[in-house]
Amino acid sequence: MNLVTVALLVLAGTVSGDFFAEVDLKQHMETFFKDRYPIEDNRPTREAAREYIKNKFSYYGLEVHEQKFNTTINTDPRGFGSNTVTVEGTNIIGIKKAITQQADAVVVVGADYDSNGLSDPLFYNGAGVAALLEVAHVYSFNTDWSGRFADNFTTIFVAFDINTKHYKGSSGHPGGYHFVKTWLWDYIGKTPSFFGGAVILDSIMNVQYENKTQTLTTGFNNLFPGTYKRVLDSGAKGNFLAMVSSSGAESKLKDQFSGNYNKDRQRQRYRLEDMVMINGGTMDPIIELIVESDSVHFWTFTDDMGEPIHLPAILLTDTASFRSNPKDGCSTCRPVDLLTEERLEFVNATVRATTRFLLDRQATLLPPKESNAVSSLPSILMTALMMCLVRLNK
Ligand SMILES: *[C@@H]1O[C@H](CO)[C@@H](O)[C@H](O)[C@H]1NC(C)=O
Ligand SMILES: *[C@@H]1O[C@H](CO)[C@@H](O)[C@H](O)[C@H]1NC(C)=O
Ligand SMILES: *[C@@H]1O[C@H](CO)[C@@H](O)[C@H](O)[C@H]1NC(C)=O
Ligand SMILES: *[C@@H]1O[C@H](CO)[C@@H](O)[C@H](O)[C@H]1NC(C)=O
Repeated sequence: MNLVTVALLVLAGTVSGDFFAEVDLKQHMETFFKDRYPIEDNRPTREAAREYIKNKFSYYGLEVHEQKFNTTINTDPRGFGSNTVTVEGTNIIGIKKAITQQADAVVVVGADYDSNGLSDPLFYNGAGVAALLEVAHVYSFNTDWSGRFADNFTTIFVAFDINTKHYKGSSGHPGGYHFVKTWLWDYIGKTPSFFGGAVILDSIMNVQYENKTQTLTTGFNNLFPGTYKRVLDSGAKGNFLAMVSSSGAESKLKDQFSGNYNKDRQRQRYRLEDMVMINGGTMDPIIELIVESDSVHFWTFTDDMGEPIHLPAILLTDTASFRSNPKDGCSTCRPVDLLTEERLEFVNATVRATTRFLLDRQATLLPPKESNAVSSLPSILMTALMMCLVRLNK
């Protein structure tokens, strides 16, 4: 990007009235085409993914931490046999630091960057990581570089490693568990009051507009009757993003997120489904899918004394295996062929909503200075300078 481009982008951001919105997901996706199941054969792809995320986080001006942990997995992703090994995982954490020690201050946005060895590594969950990176990018751009917003509260972006819950026959604790239990809890001073909530992006690209592309089970009906009926009545289309929460504890977080998702609703062919889990539902694959996601480590957290403490979290998902396989009817498709405009736009909407949610909640829109181009020149130059500095710093 040259300086003129930067200047133009800043200007575009200045006039958009909302936020600087040059969302570019595609640039990140090719890093996540290949399998990242944590076995020796996949070391190169795992390291490439990890380096990429770290570099982007630091390029976006975040303070980068790595949290290493050991866990056990079955070397066969199908879960056959009993060849269990210890593997080391690395959660990558990018902090946008502001005030932490205040009620509801800290917000986490997280996504898994490994893959389960069986499902498509781009859909599960490369697209979620690409979205995470773009949210970090657009949020930082608005709070640092464009000067339109000022950060108020600390936001933490985290790419989780080794989600053993998504694996078959692997009993070790997943990266998300280690993050909440031994990193986040300390970071928020071992008090839930400083924690505002987490947004988990887990499989968010598979949108489908044909009838019967969404699987509906009895368990689905028991757990989410409202959504079940709406989806069934409209031909069982997989044309929604599920926002799953566990109980009343998430109501504020949910409202803040859905308000921002629905801002450009009229233009959309897809929608957000507010799905609150009713406790005590029967065991069903849909529940298994939800408890495999990282949101569960927030919902079921227990402190050092074993006291349960519910940390608010929402799970954003296309419902993964409950939706028709994106490769159906396209068995010879290359990964890049699956990146349709339709799918990118669906992920894009999640990026826009999450970024707006963060800007609303974690930052403050500064009063406009002068609105003509000439008077915003110093800020353009500042931005250009900062971008150069960030580049030199890499
Ligand atoms: C994981 O296990 C290996 C081998 O035992 C050890 O070298 C490494 O330090 C461990 N890592 C962590 C984070 O405990
Ligand atoms: C957020 O930051 C802005 C700019 O520094 C400040 O004016 C405002 O009072 C802060 N708001 C809160 C809620 O802390
Ligand atoms: C899709 O389902 C809806 C609602 O059940 C129905 O009205 C419509 O005719 C179906 N469309 C096709 C192409 O089958
Ligand atoms: C993503 O959203 C931004 C902002 O609305 C828009 O400029 C861009 O064209 C979108 N990209 C895709 C692939 O839909």
